[in-house]
Amino acid sequence: MERSRLPEGRAIGHSAAMLIAQISDMHINAPDAPSMSGIDAIGNLERCVAAVNALDPAPELILATGDLTKDGTADEYATLRALLAPLKAPLYAIPGNHDIREAMRAAFADAPYLPRDGTYLHYVIEDHALRLIALDTVVAEAPHGQLDDGRLDWLAARLKEAPDRPTAILMHHPPFRTGYAAMDAMRCFDGDALGALVAKHPQIVGILCGHLHRASHTPFFGTTAASAPSTIAQLKLDLSGAKALGERAIWSDEPPAYMLHLWQPGEGLVSHVMQV
Ligand SMILES: [Fe+2]
Ligand SMILES: [Fe+2]
Repeated sequence: MERSRLPEGRAIGHSAAMLIAQISDMHINAPDAPSMSGIDAIGNLERCVAAVNALDPAPELILATGDLTKDGTADEYATLRALLAPLKAPLYAIPGNHDIREAMRAAFADAPYLPRDGTYLHYVIEDHALRLIALDTVVAEAPHGQLDDGRLDWLAARLKEAPDRPTAILMHHPPFRTGYAAMDAMRCFDGDALGALVAKHPQIVGILCGHLHRASHTPFFGTTAASAPSTIAQLKLDLSGAKALGERAIWSDEPPAYMLHLWQPGEGLVSHVMQV
């Protein structure tokens, strides 16, 4: 059966609707090495990739919002690339706190969207109806995220370039508090500064994050910010205020999942949780 692409008969330049799959927090180990918490990261990602490839209509592109690997080693990135190779749509990846920028840059050397130089792996994708701005919130060897050292200035400059283009922002660390104290302690710390910038740019239709290993969403300075579930495992939601992961059972028995975002001109972004 021929797979269709959204929208049927409505693909007119940059006014077309757009379907986007978001996979996150794969935490891929090398095949001969222990996996994170003994969970089948590889098998779970294989099943997610198969599920994304079976979507009809097919997504126009796939976003991978960080924590691509367990520890950021070359072997892990090679394993990840092999697992993602069957994807039928273009993939755009950003780093998370479990990634190592230089190893990721080397592993994705053929990816034209990643900057060849400079510290940060941030970039803009202009090829689709929805403009994508991918941020790098990683702080080396720290679990939390930041947008310091010019990263917010870079974002401000990118937003200024195209005030009339509907735009989605990708970032690994959510910039908002979720009530999950142990994870809030490792959110993106510059949420208010980011919010002040976002509030001045109504072209932003949404902020798509990972890191939480759970789907969540909230109003955010005039737009919506959301976290995606993980392809390896979901954290057990803990609203007790416990300050550290592991004070209670850490992993839930919810299945691996990804997000499917439908953007339609004039109607904004609608996001679906897709369990695998
Ligand atoms: Fe993660
Ligand atoms: Fe993370």
